[in-house]
Amino acid sequence: MTTEPHNNNTDLSLAKQQSNKPLLSLCWDQGKLLMLDQRLLPEKIVFLELTTPEEVWEGIHTMKVRGAPAIGIAAAYGVVLGAYSFQGDNNKHWLEHVLAAADHLATSRPTAVNLFWALDRMKERAAQLAKDQSSRALRNEGLLAEAVAIHREDEEVCRKIGQHALPLFNSGMGVLTHCNAGGLATAKYGTALAPFYLAQEQGISLKIYANETRPVLQGARLTAFELQQAGIDVTLLCDNMAGLVMSKGWIDAVIVGTDRVAANGDVANKIGTYSLAVLAKAHNIPFYVASPLSTIDLDTESGELIPIEERPEHEVTEGFGKRTAPSGIKVFNPSFDVTPHHLITAIITEKGIIKPPFRDNLAALLKP
Ligand code: MRU
Repeated sequence: MTTEPHNNNTDLSLAKQQSNKPLLSLCWDQGKLLMLDQRLLPEKIVFLELTTPEEVWEGIHTMKVRGAPAIGIAAAYGVVLGAYSFQGDNNKHWLEHVLAAADHLATSRPTAVNLFWALDRMKERAAQLAKDQSSRALRNEGLLAEAVAIHREDEEVCRKIGQHALPLFNSGMGVLTHCNAGGLATAKYGTALAPFYLAQEQGISLKIYANETRPVLQGARLTAFELQQAGIDVTLLCDNMAGLVMSKGWIDAVIVGTDRVAANGDVANKIGTYSLAVLAKAHNIPFYVASPLSTIDLDTESGELIPIEERPEHEVTEGFGKRTAPSGIKVFNPSFDVTPHHLITAIITEKGIIKPPFRDNLAALLKP
């Protein structure tokens, strides 16, 4: 089922005129999760009305919602929808049902640790509610409050990341970003894109370069779209142009988001991030990673232990509606790569800027 809360047409110029607000990727509405179908952007703005955890699983798995924090938020609401589908009154059975929904949602995508972080938080809350609340309605209400808290906190966290990152960018600077770590990938503002929105609020003009980002063009379809809608100066680049624009002196800094930061500071992010970090090093350009604490995984020792998702071959051979490679060709299509910590200048979190040595500084940051 589809709804179009912003307008009843798909003409982007009209959509832009009608809405000064940023497009939100997720919205809870009276027992339903409204999920913006990001696969249809920038051509169509369509919200799906989801009422079961299975639909949320499918939405995450097929990347209708994507971006590390956003999939964590979606999964948290998926757990709530799982609780709503339980009919009996028995606490223990309610808890088993909710935990099973959470465990299933955890299989939707492997790399972004925010998914598991949000689901663990929901499971802990469910266990507490099963102990404390005798009525099913109160338990469900408590679970919804937790999902709403995860959603709201992400907006605050992203704004704080933007505030900490902003001093790194002076007016007139050229900044390169990769994939989409913007409002569409989070509750609002984004992580890597948050400083751009805050710069705009303060009248600081930056020149943003967005890589198109293979294989499914999140940079072109999403980052270019959301920055252009916000009136921020953005230029779209093909993925293989970064070396050229750096050599021309157009790029003063690179900032990307991340799906998981390992204990030693290695960072998994969209495929191509590693090449950008190498290029930045070669051109003496600072390379920043914007990361909420929920993306830092001290249980994963180093980047080589981060599970990397592989995507279907057709995304590369006929991803844009037309076959662009010979049929039967072998394809390698990992969704993410790992940037080793020694190529990273700093990791920007909601608690401030973390510099090397990352192992010690990340551990200190997350100390209870
Ligand atoms: O495959 P995606 O679109 O979910 O990958 C998204 C990214 O790699 C983002 O850069 C990352 O999740 C950070 S989002 C704030």
